[in-house]
Amino acid sequence: MNNFEENNEFVKRPSSAAQNGAPGRNIPGQVRRPAQPSSGVQTQRRPATPTSRQQPQSRPTQSTAGARRPTQGYTRIEPDRKPPSRPEPKAKKEFDKGEMLHNILIFLGMLAAMLFLSFALILSSLHVAPEKVKTSYSYVYGESDKKVTSVTVNKVLYVNMTDLSEMYEFTVSGTKAALRYTADKGEFVEFTIGSVSAKINGDIVNMEGAALVREKENVWIPLSFAENYFGGIIIERDEKENTIKIVREEKTGSTEDAPLYSDITFRIKGSQTLEGIGEDTDIGDVKTPEFINDLSEYEQYMNPSNRDDYLILVNKTNTISADDIPENLVSIVNVRKDGRKEQMVECAEKALEALYIEMKSAGYTDVSVMSGYRSYNKQVSLFSTYLQREMANNPSLTEEQAKQIVLTYSAFPGTSEHQTGLCCDMHNLPSADVSFARKEAYTWLKDNCYKFGFIIRYPEDKTEITGYSFEPWHYRFVGRYHATRMYELGLCLEEYVELLSRANGN
Ligand code: DAL
Ligand code: ZN
Repeated sequence: MNNFEENNEFVKRPSSAAQNGAPGRNIPGQVRRPAQPSSGVQTQRRPATPTSRQQPQSRPTQSTAGARRPTQGYTRIEPDRKPPSRPEPKAKKEFDKGEMLHNILIFLGMLAAMLFLSFALILSSLHVAPEKVKTSYSYVYGESDKKVTSVTVNKVLYVNMTDLSEMYEFTVSGTKAALRYTADKGEFVEFTIGSVSAKINGDIVNMEGAALVREKENVWIPLSFAENYFGGIIIERDEKENTIKIVREEKTGSTEDAPLYSDITFRIKGSQTLEGIGEDTDIGDVKTPEFINDLSEYEQYMNPSNRDDYLILVNKTNTISADDIPENLVSIVNVRKDGRKEQMVECAEKALEALYIEMKSAGYTDVSVMSGYRSYNKQVSLFSTYLQREMANNPSLTEEQAKQIVLTYSAFPGTSEHQTGLCCDMHNLPSADVSFARKEAYTWLKDNCYKFGFIIRYPEDKTEITGYSFEPWHYRFVGRYHATRMYELGLCLEEYVELLSRANGN
C-alpha cells in the first residue's frame, strides 16, 4: 500500500489495483468524446439549483555469482630426483610466486569478462525494440488466401483488423482516431488508435497492446483480443507452418456451393442485455424512502425536479475544460473539523446534509468530508504530487510509466469529476483507504446513499469500466431518481449513461 495525499489527506490504494487492468488508460489529450446522449444524459453541463419548489426557509444544523574460483597458486609436482627404488610417497609442493601472479591475473580477467557478459545480458533483456518482427507467421484470411506477414510490436502479436472487417462485412464508422466496427446484429467493437482500451458493446476491455495504424491506414489489433472476444470466426495458429488461419465459422448444413455462416457476435454483451428496459427511460417517480428524521425540507434537493441536470459524465474520455467552474458552490457543512474548507454545488451539498442527519441517527457520527470541489489547477497540483511520489518511490519508472500508475487512482487534470462540484470524498479514517470498505459506516452508506441522490462512483466491481481502482470514499450526486435506478440495476455511471443513450436511440 502506498500513501497518497489528496486534498490534505493521504489516500491509500491497493497496489495490485494500480498495476492491473485498470482500464481506460487513455492518455488525456488522446481521448475522444463519445456521441452525447440526446436526452437525459449530458456532459459538462452545469446543474441549476432546483427551481420547482421553494428553498427551505432555514437550514437545519447539521549475490555472489556462482563463478568457480580457479585454484590460486597452483600445485606443482616436483621432478623426481631420487632413485626409483626410493620414490617419495607424494609429490612435493612448491610455491611459485610468478605463477601465482599469473593465475591471479587470469582469474581477474575471467571475472571481468563474466561481469561484462552478465551486464550485457541484463541490458539486452531490458531493451524492447519498439517494433520488430519476431515471428514470421502468415495470416490467411478466409477463402481469399490473402497472406500477410505478422506484426509483433513489443512482443504482442497483431492482426489486421481492416482485413478482418472486410471478411466480417462490418460497418465501419467513427473517425480515423476512433473506429467502430458494427456486425449484422448491431453488436459492435470500438478501437481508439494508440489506446489499449477497446469497447465491446459499450463495455471497456483492455487489450494486450494498443490499437495501431500501419501502412495504408490499416488498423491492427492484438490477435489475442480477436481470439478472446470475437465469435463466429475460427482462428487457428499452425506453429509448424507458421500460419494463422482466420476463417468464418460455418453453420451445420453448410455446403461448398451454398455456405452458411454463423452470425458475427462478441463475447461481451455489455449493457445490451438491459435493452428490455431501454425503450422507456422514464419509470415514473421513484419511491420516497422512509427516514428516521423528517427530511421533507430537503426533498427538493435529494430528488430535484430538474433531475437530468445532474447526470453529468466526466471521466477519462469526457473531459471538462480548465475554465469550467460550477455555479452555486457552497461550503460543505459536514467537513472534517481540522480547519479545511470544502465546497460543493448547493443542491448536492443540501442533499449531503440530509444524508448526514440520517447517518448520524443511524449511529455513524464520525464520517466527515475530506474533499469536495476541486479546481482544474488544484487537480494539476494534486496529479503532479502523485506523479513525483510514484517516481520517488520507484526511481526505475519512466515518467510515462509513473503516469499510467497514477491514472488508476487520480484523474488527469480536466478529467476529474471533483471539478463538477457534484462529488465528495468522505470517510472516518485519518486518510482515504480501501479499508473504509470494512467499516460499518461504509456499509450504511453503500445501502442508503442512493436515497439521498448519491452513488458510489468507483465501485469495486466496475474498475474495468470506470478506469479507477475502488474508492469506497468517493460519493457522487446524481439525484435520487437516477441514483435509485443505478442502485437497483447495479450499474455504474458509465454503464447507466450508455444505457440511456441506447434507449434514446443514440
Ligand atoms: N480520485 C478520483 C478518480 C479523481 O481524482 O477525481
Ligand atoms: Zn474523490
